[in-house]
Amino acid sequence: MDQHHQEVATEPNTKPNSKRDFNQRCKPISVVVMDHRTDRKTLAQLMWLHRKVYKASNGKLKLRKPKSVLQHLQAGHKIVAANSVDSQIIGFALLAFPEKPGATNIDEYRYDWVGPKEDCMAIQTVCVDPFHQGCGVTKLLFEKANEVAKTPEIGRKARRFLLAKISEDNSESRGAFASKEFIESTPDYVGNDTYRSVFVKREVWSTPVEIEAARKKQKIGSGKPAYPPC
Ligand SMILES: CC(C)(COP(=O)(O)OP(=O)(O)OC[C@H]1O[C@@H](n2cnc3c(N)ncnc32)[C@H](O)[C@@H]1OP(=O)(O)O)[C@@H](O)C(=O)NCCC(=O)NCCS
Repeated sequence: MDQHHQEVATEPNTKPNSKRDFNQRCKPISVVVMDHRTDRKTLAQLMWLHRKVYKASNGKLKLRKPKSVLQHLQAGHKIVAANSVDSQIIGFALLAFPEKPGATNIDEYRYDWVGPKEDCMAIQTVCVDPFHQGCGVTKLLFEKANEVAKTPEIGRKARRFLLAKISEDNSESRGAFASKEFIESTPDYVGNDTYRSVFVKREVWSTPVEIEAARKKQKIGSGKPAYPPC
């Protein structure tokens, strides 16, 4: 464990309560996309943060094993990670492409709510270090996720929707998604879950002009918008 993490771990789990406090916690951060080339040291740092957020979340977050996160990346899924000024990971989210193998727990997502599952990118396991919560880290992660969803991969077009599943009683997470213009479904039981969840979605392409431009760039058709505006 490095020095920075030891320092952060001893901080009280409270949100900023003064402008000075806020500025200290919410120093500029950068957001990167991680893929199968991510080195083990970075992955270990990410899993350390995950366990820390899991412990602080009172069961609201599912614990993932390092092996499952490694498999996630090896199968072609991605991670967006926020780094502090001293290059420590302070937040991340898993990005999963539903048609690819290796992503856990997304088979039962409500794709009927958004169209073909190939048009979606799922956001999973959003984790922000308690010390840095309330600073807009999630907002930056979602912006980067949106960029990833907009970027076509070889042989396939960009995604239309960001989709996530949140347990009904996770008001913090629901609030974070709602504040970033995600729309919620009605709470319901999903698969074998013993608790109810909501799905949240947000359209990646906001205007027909953007859709049209992306379609032309991808050379996938006649020039008509790929998707009608919602
Ligand atoms: C949920 C979580 C990712 C949010 O991260 P964050 O970086 O603090 O989020 P941001 O600072 O970008 O945004 C917080 C937003 O959520 C809202 N919010 C926070 N707590 C809330 C609550 N209890 N009820 C309603 N809204 C809440 C805030 O109003 C804020 O909106 P604003 O930007 O419009 O002011 C973070 O709290 C976390 O890691 N929680 C534990 C793990 C977890 O539950 N992950 C989600 C699994 S799906």
